[in-house]
Amino acid sequence: MAVESTQMVSTEFTNTNLEVLYSEEQIRTRIKELGQQITSDYANGDLVLVSVLKGSCVFLADLMRVIDLPLTIDFMSVSSYKDGMRSTGDVEILKDLSNSIRGKDVLVVEDIIDTGLTLSRLLDILGTRGANSIKLSSFLDKPEPRIKKELSIDYTGFVVPNKFVVGYGLDAAGRYRNLPFIAVVKDPSVA
Ligand code: IMP
Ligand code: MG
Repeated sequence: MAVESTQMVSTEFTNTNLEVLYSEEQIRTRIKELGQQITSDYANGDLVLVSVLKGSCVFLADLMRVIDLPLTIDFMSVSSYKDGMRSTGDVEILKDLSNSIRGKDVLVVEDIIDTGLTLSRLLDILGTRGANSIKLSSFLDKPEPRIKKELSIDYTGFVVPNKFVVGYGLDAAGRYRNLPFIAVVKDPSVA
């Protein structure tokens, strides 16, 4: 059958340069738990999920479907300036929110917090806009390189080691966002 032969030649999901860290099944279970926690915490809120493009789009899509509350979503896109490999904390808003967050309960949805510089600047910007509350959810927390130690993540999917990870929205030079699992790239020069 045509479908079977397509699956046999596709090697992106079975790429031997990838070491799976969290499987699709583990991710599904964890996201459900986060959804239950958020549903209970925001039962009396006016929730808006603010997704930071592009990495968090997969997390947002799964998370929003396990939050059993009325809610809206909005998107922001920021570019963080890097000084070599490290982000400097300067961010430029490439795409701002479509709607006002005044009086709203904002839950920022991120893919991964690394140094925390980008998110901390973003939270400063959102903090000036009259929201009722602002909290942070991140699918992954990579605490070792953290510079903004005071940044607290209210809802974390998984804590990861200080390695470059891909999949489930996270990329390496634009690739791998479509992997349904989280993996470490064994040899980045091959990626
Ligand atoms: P920072 O917290 O300001 O250092 O920047 C975090 C951003 O860097 C994330 O939103 C990701 O886009 C990217 N990033 C950090 N670590 C990784 C990783 O391991 N894989 C893929 N992207 C990463
Ligand atoms: Mg990001």
